[in-house]
Amino acid sequence: MSNQKEMAQASNGPAIIPAHIAIIMDGNGRWAKGKGVPLILGHKEGAAALKRVTHHAGILGVKYLTVYAFSSENWRRPQDWIDDLMGLLRFYLKHEVKELLNNNIRLRVIGDKSQFAPDIQNLIEKSENLTENNTGLTLVIALNYGGRKDILQACRNFVNHLTDGYKTFSSLSENMATLNEEEFSSFLYTKDIPDPDLMIRSSGEYRISNFLLWQIAYSELVFSHKLWPDFNEADLDDAIGMYNSRDRRFGAVFAD
Ligand code: FPP
Repeated sequence: MSNQKEMAQASNGPAIIPAHIAIIMDGNGRWAKGKGVPLILGHKEGAAALKRVTHHAGILGVKYLTVYAFSSENWRRPQDWIDDLMGLLRFYLKHEVKELLNNNIRLRVIGDKSQFAPDIQNLIEKSENLTENNTGLTLVIALNYGGRKDILQACRNFVNHLTDGYKTFSSLSENMATLNEEEFSSFLYTKDIPDPDLMIRSSGEYRISNFLLWQIAYSELVFSHKLWPDFNEADLDDAIGMYNSRDRRFGAVFAD
């Protein structure tokens, strides 16, 4: 499947473009190993794939694209690998903003930014501020992000948000008793962003790896065998085609 007509055929009608697509960009290291080149080249090509896919998603009318660029567990990798990825992130943030502005794309970063070097934190803030009025696609980059950590920080946020006067045990438990899913979601990093309709993982692995655990409760999952640096516009179309062939019931009964 490689174009909107085929996507439409998969759904027996006009193709539905998911409002929010999340991607686990896996397979950069294997791509580099397979080619016998340094690991960082796999991630450089991965960044190029991200640019291709972001541009294409914007053209298709996707509203949010959330990508897993650095997990909270990635700090366990060798320091050289971390340094190379930080270098690439600096380069991307410095040079990509112009492209995002030209394409009306807003950038948002989710995750715990406080562990990054101050210059990276500044670059993130600057890029987010410069693009905040863009009205096209919102590109959400998950950096130092973990799904379980997101849920934990939301719990802490919720408790901290209660004013001092509420911090007695009985009023805290009253607030807990009335807390609903919608209110809880507003304390997650993804506040104001709808849940993903579709989550894609490249590289033939079938795991979620601690990405957006709360948010993907009803997302459709598509696993691609392509290594991320090889992922292209047609692969995104294919995934959207598969999404269109699914029946989303959100726990309700099947409607004829
Ligand atoms: C997992 O694949 C991917 C990552 C840990 C990082 C993905 C990052 C990029 C594609 C860089 C582009 C993003 C920005 C914003 C600069 P892996 O590298 O662990 O692959 P492997 O499982 O084959 O080793």
